Amino acid sequence: MIYLDNAATTYPKPKAVQAAVSGALRRGANPGRSGHKMSVASAEEVYRCRESVADFFGCDCPECVAFTLNCTYAINLVLKGLLKPGDHVVCTDLEHNAVMRPLFALEQQGVSYTAVPVIEGDNDETVNGFRKALRSNTALAICTQASNVTGVRVPVERIAALCKAYGIPVAVDCAQSAGVLPITMDDTGIDYLCAPGHKGLYGPMGTGLLIAKKGENLRTILEGGTGTSSADFLHPAQMPERFEPGTQNFPGIVGLSAGIQFLRQRTTKSIFLHEMRLMQQAYDRLEQLPSVRLYTSRPTLTHHVPVLSFNVEGLDSETVGQWLNRQGVAVRAGLHCAPAAHRKLGTLESGTVRISPSAFTTQEELRRFLFLLGQFVKKLQK
Ligand code: ALA
Repeated sequence: MIYLDNAATTYPKPKAVQAAVSGALRRGANPGRSGHKMSVASAEEVYRCRESVADFFGCDCPECVAFTLNCTYAINLVLKGLLKPGDHVVCTDLEHNAVMRPLFALEQQGVSYTAVPVIEGDNDETVNGFRKALRSNTALAICTQASNVTGVRVPVERIAALCKAYGIPVAVDCAQSAGVLPITMDDTGIDYLCAPGHKGLYGPMGTGLLIAKKGENLRTILEGGTGTSSADFLHPAQMPERFEPGTQNFPGIVGLSAGIQFLRQRTTKSIFLHEMRLMQQAYDRLEQLPSVRLYTSRPTLTHHVPVLSFNVEGLDSETVGQWLNRQGVAVRAGLHCAPAAHRKLGTLESGTVRISPSAFTTQEELRRFLFLLGQFVKKLQK
């Protein structure tokens, strides 16, 4: 299979990640739950993973890193832990359902929100939109760093600086940008960073991160055993235990750490450049195909991440996706759990076909995909 669905999860995982997961399965006692040396060794390993994650995201506090199930879970911890009836939230019009569905649920409880339009290629306008949307009761700004549908980037650093000036906390959904774009928590003043472990960080599915400098400000939505303060029914206030009740995904965490190690060796910059070259090449070819419609301007290193959406005129995206599947190409068609972005593109009915490469995608694979699609379009026109 030519795998171009890396925005859903990266595949394959690096060999070192596979080895780390199976090693953890062979070794793994429950981290931090018992005093025996196997449990202590697991706890030490988890702590090293925490240090590695904190360092990778430019955060000086390993304890501020909580391992979660996925990015959606981390976003829910922030939204449901922070907001109360009467609060207002500012987000963008590109948010994934990981943000929109919890916001919709909170709306039923008296929280309101404004979705600011992201203007592709014009960060000044996007930031101005945020400025205008802020209110006296705005309790949080939350935004994706890049659209999972079109790859369009959001200037989160500038939005964080703006919100800081008004004392408004900022959460960033790094679902498509973690491991792809550099982001440093301490420099940007981002309060809550939410990320999946299984996409650009090359870890296993079922892993995610919440990095929170002031995690104590968030109410918990789950409580349970942490292996600490066990005599107390009151769930611990301090990070990371606050958001890690129950047994942790030890193999997943160790695998995630190996994924970050892979990124350090290859460097995120060189992977990003490789993937962006592929997307630019795809764009240039798709643009020439008569009945193919693209939804962004040509991908640039400054305003996009390597994710591209298109449609073949007159066809539903699922039809094209299934045809590609039969030819041995894996893409994601449909709405990508991001109806807000599709509403903006006018593709709520048809969806789009999305391609997204990884560090392992080759020129040859991309060329083959473009050739197959070219044949498909030619056949349609006959
Ligand atoms: N949110 C993931 C995607 O965009 C799963 O495909």
